[in-house]
Amino acid sequence: MSTVKKLQVVTGGTSGMGLGTAKALGTYGPVLIGGRNLGRLESAMEELNAAGIEAYGKNCDVSDRDSLAAFAEYAASIAPIGSVVNAAGVDYGAVPRDMLLKINMQGTHYVLETFLPYLDNSNVVNYSSVTGYFYQPKKEELELWMNPDAEGFLEKVSAMIPDPQDPRMTALGPDYMAYAASKRFVMFYTMANTRRVGLKNNSRIISVAPGSFMTPMLVSQGVENEAVAEGMKRGTAFHRLGEPDEIADLIQHLLAPGHEYLTGCDIIMDGGRTALGMYPQFE
Ligand SMILES: NC(=O)c1ccc[n+]([C@@H]2O[C@H](COP(=O)([O-])OP(=O)(O)OC[C@H]3O[C@@H](n4cnc5c(N)ncnc54)[C@H](OP(=O)(O)O)[C@@H]3O)[C@@H](O)[C@H]2O)c1
Repeated sequence: MSTVKKLQVVTGGTSGMGLGTAKALGTYGPVLIGGRNLGRLESAMEELNAAGIEAYGKNCDVSDRDSLAAFAEYAASIAPIGSVVNAAGVDYGAVPRDMLLKINMQGTHYVLETFLPYLDNSNVVNYSSVTGYFYQPKKEELELWMNPDAEGFLEKVSAMIPDPQDPRMTALGPDYMAYAASKRFVMFYTMANTRRVGLKNNSRIISVAPGSFMTPMLVSQGVENEAVAEGMKRGTAFHRLGEPDEIADLIQHLLAPGHEYLTGCDIIMDGGRTALGMYPQFE
């Protein structure tokens, strides 16, 4: 799937890893970023322009189909779509639970559905999270997840999310499990669309699962507090957080021509956090 000279679209491209990704993909062609907050959009545009990138910006809300339709129409008026990266997402505790589920789950679905008619020889990348690996959906949940447009989808999804069993998760607040479920959904949704996107659009779709990366989202989790940061760092193989440019660089490589066979999978970049959490480690 060629990326060269085609438009690179990044939702949530106004901050953190989305902005980093927009910068990295600027090497492939013009970039369009979207987000809700106009002030953030403006300063991200300044940053991209200063980096010499042909950048476009438009407000968009991934949880609003009309907003996305206008965003996609604008995108298609700039150039054929090379990549759509959905980095828009919200954290547990940042917004009410129903909004979290709407943005992270239905938002992911709306972005793909809206851009699908424009995809041809293109790439789709969704931002999941390693947190998703600690959520195991039941068979009934997967059946429900197959239809994000179903009436009462969010209420039904929410009702199926169990309370955490692990006290470490309970300590993270009442919506931690909802965040984990929403990010597991992103992985599921990416993989469940592999055939459709491949056969109908000659395109590929992957997700990337970050561990703890130093972004405004992490700041809102209190990472500026040394003890909080220390806890996150100690869960990795290198005792450090990731930088947005590192994951942006990974995505740029993954989308480079020559990787067409890479589709339908979730790529973890977490400094080893998942491995350390899942398995005993050799000394
Ligand atoms: N940072 C981490 O350690 C970490 C770890 C695992 C996964 N992730 C995931 O990685 C992605 C990027 O996170 P980040 O840390 O870079 O976060 P961030 O700095 O908070 O950026 C989030 C971006 O998403 C946008 N956004 C939020 N809701 C939106 C909506 N409804 N419509 C359109 N845009 C929306 C925000 O802009 P507006 O608010 O202006 O709309 C912002 O541009 C997220 O999906 C996050 O869940 C992050």
